[in-house]
Amino acid sequence: MTSPRSANFRSARGNYSPWYLSRPRLVVTCCLFATLYLYLHYYDGSTPTLIPEDSFELLKDESLTDIVNSTLGFEKILVLNLPFRTDRRDAMTLAAATSNMKLEFVDGVTGDSIRNSAYPPPEENIKLSAGIRGSWRTHMNALQRIVNQNLTTALIFEDDVDWDVRIRPNLQRFALASRFLSEHDNVRLTPAKYPIDYRPNPETADTTFHTLSDNGITEKLPSLPLSSVYKKPLRYHRQPPPPPPNTPTSPYGDPSQWDILWIGHCGAGFPRYYEYSPEHGRPQVTAANVLLTHANDQSVPSGKWLKAHPFQGDLDPLANAYPPHTRVYHRATGGELCTVGYAVSQRGARRLLHQFGIKAWNGIFDSELGRWCAGQDPQTEAESSISKENRQNSTPSTGKGGRHGTERVCLTSQPPIFAHHHPVDGESDIGGLGGGYANKYETKYLRYSVRMNLERIVQGVKDLVDQWPD
Ligand SMILES: *[C@@H]1O[C@H](CO)[C@@H](O)[C@H](O)[C@H]1NC(C)=O
Ligand SMILES: *[C@@H]1O[C@H](CO)[C@@H](O)[C@H](O)[C@H]1NC(C)=O
Repeated sequence: MTSPRSANFRSARGNYSPWYLSRPRLVVTCCLFATLYLYLHYYDGSTPTLIPEDSFELLKDESLTDIVNSTLGFEKILVLNLPFRTDRRDAMTLAAATSNMKLEFVDGVTGDSIRNSAYPPPEENIKLSAGIRGSWRTHMNALQRIVNQNLTTALIFEDDVDWDVRIRPNLQRFALASRFLSEHDNVRLTPAKYPIDYRPNPETADTTFHTLSDNGITEKLPSLPLSSVYKKPLRYHRQPPPPPPNTPTSPYGDPSQWDILWIGHCGAGFPRYYEYSPEHGRPQVTAANVLLTHANDQSVPSGKWLKAHPFQGDLDPLANAYPPHTRVYHRATGGELCTVGYAVSQRGARRLLHQFGIKAWNGIFDSELGRWCAGQDPQTEAESSISKENRQNSTPSTGKGGRHGTERVCLTSQPPIFAHHHPVDGESDIGGLGGGYANKYETKYLRYSVRMNLERIVQGVKDLVDQWPD
C-alpha cells in the first residue's frame, strides 16, 4: 500500500519528466562527478602532513618513516674515535644502543702520526697543533670512506655526541625543513604566497662569528612558519614524475641538492645571504636566507639556557630573536662551530674531500667548514695578514660557494639537534673538537639528554630528568 503522498509524488514526476532530468538532482549529480574528477585528477593522494603538538610524537607521513630506522634515515652513521679512547667508545656504544642506532666506528688518528708530505697546501699547516692536525685527518678519513663506499648520505658523529630522547621526532621535523630549504633554491618567496615575518636580527658585529668577515649581517630575519611551507591540503598541480629508478633519494631531500646537514654544533650564525630587489626596496627572500620557524617546540630549552659553553657571555642570538621554545632551520651561511654531528651527501663528501684533502686547508676543521659553508674559502696565514682590511670592505658573502659551479648548500637547526656531552672529569684528546675545556657535567641545548639520563634508561626508570626546565 502506498500513502497518498508518495502516490502524488510519483504521478507528478511521471507525468512530466523522468526523475534524472529533475534539475536540482542534475546539478547535484554533475557536481558530484566534477568533484570526483577533480579529486582523481589533481589530488596527490596524500593527506596533509601535520606536525603533532607533542614533541615526542612522530609524523604520520610515509616519506618520513625511514628516519625511524636504525641509521636515522641516513645510509650509515660513522663515529670518529681514537682507538685508545675505549672509554668513549663504551659510552657511545651504550648510548646508541639505548636509542636503537647502528654505528660504524672510524679510527681517529693523532697529529704526530701524519707525515709532513701528507698535507695539502699551504706549507704552514704543519705548524698547527698536533690536536688540530689529528682532528682534520680523522674527518678526512670519514669523508674518504663515504666517497669510497659510494654512500648516498652518511651521518658523522664525534664520540662525545649527545642527543635528546626525541631524536627521531626532531629529525623528522628537520627533514621537512631541509627538503624545502634545499629544493627551492631559485624560487622567490613572495609575501603574496608565503606569510613572511621580518623580525629584527639581534646579531651585531661583536656577537657574531669572527671566523667570517663582519659584513653581511642582516638587519632583518625573514621568517616563515615551517607549517606554512608544506601544509597544502589540496594541490592544484600534479605530483612531479617519480625519479628514474636507481636515482639516490633521501628523506632529508634530494641528496644531489644539498652538501651538509650541520645539525650538531656549538653555535651557528643567522644567514648572511641577502639580496635586495631594487624595485621593491625590500630584501628578496629565497631558501638561501629565509628562516623556517617551529614554535612551541618543547624539546627547545627556554632562552635563558641557550648558550654553547658555560663561559659564553651573551645568550645565543636565537634567545632574543624569537619567542621561547622556537626552533629555527636555515642555511649555514653565518658561520658555525663544532662538528659534533653532521650529515653529508655524496656530493658534499666529494666537495669537502677535494677542498680540505687536496686543494687547501689551514686551520681548525670546524671553523674552516663554517667558512666553506659561507662561501669563503680557506685562507692561508699570509693571505689573512694582508687582506684583513680588504675583506672587511668586500661584498657580503653570497653563500654561492666559490665562483664556479652550483651553490654549496649547508643547512642547520638552532638550537642544534646534536650537542657535546661533557662527562664527569671529561677530557678530549682530539683538539678543536670542543671537548676538554668545559668541565661541567652537562650537555648544552638538550633537555632529555640521553647521556645525562643513561643510568636511568639502562635501569629502566621511566621518569627521565629534564636538564633545562623552564
Ligand atoms: C635507513 O633509511 C635510509 C634512507 O632511506 C637507508 O638508506 C638506509 O639503508 C636505512 N637503514 C637501515 C638500517 O635500514
Ligand atoms: C655510485 O652510486 C651512483 C648512484 O647510486 C651510481 O649511479 C653509480 O654507478 C655508483 N658508482 C659505483 C662505482 O658504484
